[in-house]
Amino acid sequence: MEQVIDYINSNKDSYIEELKDFLKIPSISTLSDHKNDMYDAAKFVVRKLEDAGLNNVKIIETKGHPLVYGDWLKAPGKPTVLIYGHYDVQPVDPLDLWDSPPFEPTIKNGKIFARGATDDKGQMFMHVKSVEAYLKTVSKLPLNVKFIIEGEEEIGSSSLEKFVNENKDMIGCDAVLISDTALFAAGIPTLTYGLRGLSYMEVVVTGPNRDLHSGSFGGSVANPINILTEIISKLMDKNGKITIPGFYKDVLKLTKKERDNFKSLPFSEKKYAKDLGVKELKGEKGFSTLERVWTRPTLDCNGIIGGFTGAGAKTVLPSKVSAKISMRLVPHQDPKKIAKLFTNYVKKIAPKSVKVEIKDLHGAYPIVTLLDDKSTKAASIAISKAFGKKTVFMREGGSIPIVVTFAQKLKAAPVLMGLGLNSENLHSPNEHFDLNHFHLGIQSSAYFMEEFAK
Ligand code: BES
Ligand code: MN
Ligand code: MN
Repeated sequence: MEQVIDYINSNKDSYIEELKDFLKIPSISTLSDHKNDMYDAAKFVVRKLEDAGLNNVKIIETKGHPLVYGDWLKAPGKPTVLIYGHYDVQPVDPLDLWDSPPFEPTIKNGKIFARGATDDKGQMFMHVKSVEAYLKTVSKLPLNVKFIIEGEEEIGSSSLEKFVNENKDMIGCDAVLISDTALFAAGIPTLTYGLRGLSYMEVVVTGPNRDLHSGSFGGSVANPINILTEIISKLMDKNGKITIPGFYKDVLKLTKKERDNFKSLPFSEKKYAKDLGVKELKGEKGFSTLERVWTRPTLDCNGIIGGFTGAGAKTVLPSKVSAKISMRLVPHQDPKKIAKLFTNYVKKIAPKSVKVEIKDLHGAYPIVTLLDDKSTKAASIAISKAFGKKTVFMREGGSIPIVVTFAQKLKAAPVLMGLGLNSENLHSPNEHFDLNHFHLGIQSSAYFMEEFAK
């Protein structure tokens, strides 16, 4: 083990150079213009898995973006860990708010700035390097390893979902190791045991059959924007409770043990508000900020499209408007069921003066993982060793759609050993990844393999 860690320490700088090359590829999964970049990123992963010494490395074609697979299965009798990550990244807009171009990785104050740095290229790459460190020093791994890296996480993982259902044997394993979440705070070794789910809807409201002069017609017909905002405002009450009938029916209650654990974490609501530039926080009554984000469902309008948004003033009564509305879900809410409840309720409260169409864009199931699984214990020891501190346990407000599929279809425990930080601007301008966490993540991955093999 010492040899492996020494190797990781002495190659620290070259890992950063390699990561830079990965981050230069603009693999934005949601934009069709980037189809070739998706291939380039997949091929980059293939090359790195091969260089690391893995076997059976290949690109797997799908209807969407390609998957990458690789394995090392020469430890009979030892457990098998499946390592999952994603090479796709989010779009970069608004581009003018970036201090350095999103696909020209730039190092500042020990952090690497680029789209995908923390979500998820940097984090995924840590495991490639830990495997390589074993194979380049002691020429073997303490357990069996399989990699499955996808290019559609940011758009709902539908190709991987299909692949998992059809290839359970190929990726069968005892645990799934994932680094695509955050540390509780810088320098604190953390394991995440819960993710929220998602139900993402679009509501399209149409009024008159064409845009109208707001003077000649204003006051005579319903204005779709006014109506839509009225509908949105009716979805949540003044206590932050979602008003959709049946919405909370399946929500898993927070336990006293969990509440106490959250309270024991070093968290300041004041600092949190200050960092976000708001005078006061807002959320569901009766819950702390961490409880709200980690254990309670929410409803948010992500964007409204419609009407006149150019410079200056145009007097117009728009014909059509739409809103993208997402609901973060918690165990045991079902995104399909929630989408139906949402649709029925919005249809019910919409007035006859407009036509309302509702689309279910995509969803993800929420999860809480088993804390007493052997894999979680191994990960807790591993990350604690790398950081030299006791591991803390938290839940997360974000979603990783495929995790539930892994848990259910492979009957394998997901281990969420993330090394990012929620302050690293994922999905936002100036995304970055702390290079010290990157380094400790490579060590944590190596320690995990040692521990889980025991
Ligand atoms: N890595 C994130 C999930 C995440 C976010 C973990 C914040 C920890 C902190 C993942 O790439 C992501 O962005 N997921 C999407 C999923 C959606 C597009 C289905 C999300 O949560 O919005
Ligand atoms: Mn991610
Ligand atoms: Mn993401």
